[in-house]
Amino acid sequence: KIYQASTTAPVNIAVVKYWGKRDAKLNLPTNSSVSVTLSQSDLRTHTTAACSAAFGPEDTLLLNSSPQDVSGARTQACFRELRALRSALESADPSLPKLSSLPLRIVSENNFPTAAGLASSAAGFAALVRAIANLYELPSSPTDLSRIARQGSGSACRSLFGGYVAWQMGSKEDGSDSVAVEVAPASHWPTMRALILVVSAEKKGVSSTSGMQITVATSELFQRRAEVVVPAHMKAMEKAILEKDFETFAKVTMMESNSFHATCLDTFPPIFYLNDVSRAAIRVVEDINKKAGKTIAAYTFDAGPNAVIYYEEENADAVAGTLKSALGELDGWQGREIKAQSTEGV
Ligand code: DP6
Repeated sequence: KIYQASTTAPVNIAVVKYWGKRDAKLNLPTNSSVSVTLSQSDLRTHTTAACSAAFGPEDTLLLNSSPQDVSGARTQACFRELRALRSALESADPSLPKLSSLPLRIVSENNFPTAAGLASSAAGFAALVRAIANLYELPSSPTDLSRIARQGSGSACRSLFGGYVAWQMGSKEDGSDSVAVEVAPASHWPTMRALILVVSAEKKGVSSTSGMQITVATSELFQRRAEVVVPAHMKAMEKAILEKDFETFAKVTMMESNSFHATCLDTFPPIFYLNDVSRAAIRVVEDINKKAGKTIAAYTFDAGPNAVIYYEEENADAVAGTLKSALGELDGWQGREIKAQSTEGV
């Protein structure tokens, strides 16, 4: 007999960035973060989790048809925690099938190219954890599951929710209070749009996992960012979201991205994620806002050169239209863009 469950999980793009771990083993961050979850029709991971005595003996994972190594500590932590929850259910109710002792077979597909340099670990681990939780029929809430997904990849904990999501850094040593919570559902601010400009399809130079560790070890700016800048940005961002105050949302988003990339530059040796096209996109957004006489567009960049532009639906032509025609004239521009809106949870 084969037991099986499927799910999808969306991508999220942070507007207050997670960068730095205070505990690399439990994947606990040095600061809280906030993100917007993007619509699954545009960007998502679909995952099927199955288990059977006929599989095995090892657990396996296929991503876009290619076998992945599951022996890494992060995947193992997710499997172990989910199995422990299932095992507790089985002990409480001996009539349940003993799924916790069966080998797992996980099959994942992204509906966007993994090589496009787009954050795929967030949707990937969120889908993996949710699919296994469904397979095991765990009664866990999204926040419970976020505690597990966080151990796969930090940003994944925010993909368990739709809309506007905060990852509270927590203060406990065991990480039990380092979880994702909803700030507001997507329906609270349905006019929010995101445009992803695929500046480069190349794989990023320095992975976020190792980049943030070198930053913590070498950057002086980093400490100020974690202790002063981010707490202020968190407060302002949560308020801006609750009040649907786009100008503040946009200003904090841009200053956050700049603060994060400044600490990357302050890392030794320095980490450069932005390229000439990224910087050109920043200038175009500045021109758009100047021309509008108010802030109608915000840029943000993760650990790579691709720009994500947030704007409100009513400004689609002024923002998305202008960016496309301006960047279209540049060398190095790939001409790929993905439009997305914020989405409700999975
Ligand atoms: C710049 O979540 O990929 O996108 O926890 O090591 O897997 P690990 O890191 P990851 O880092 C994401 C960094 C970021 C900012 C963010 O998403 O908050």
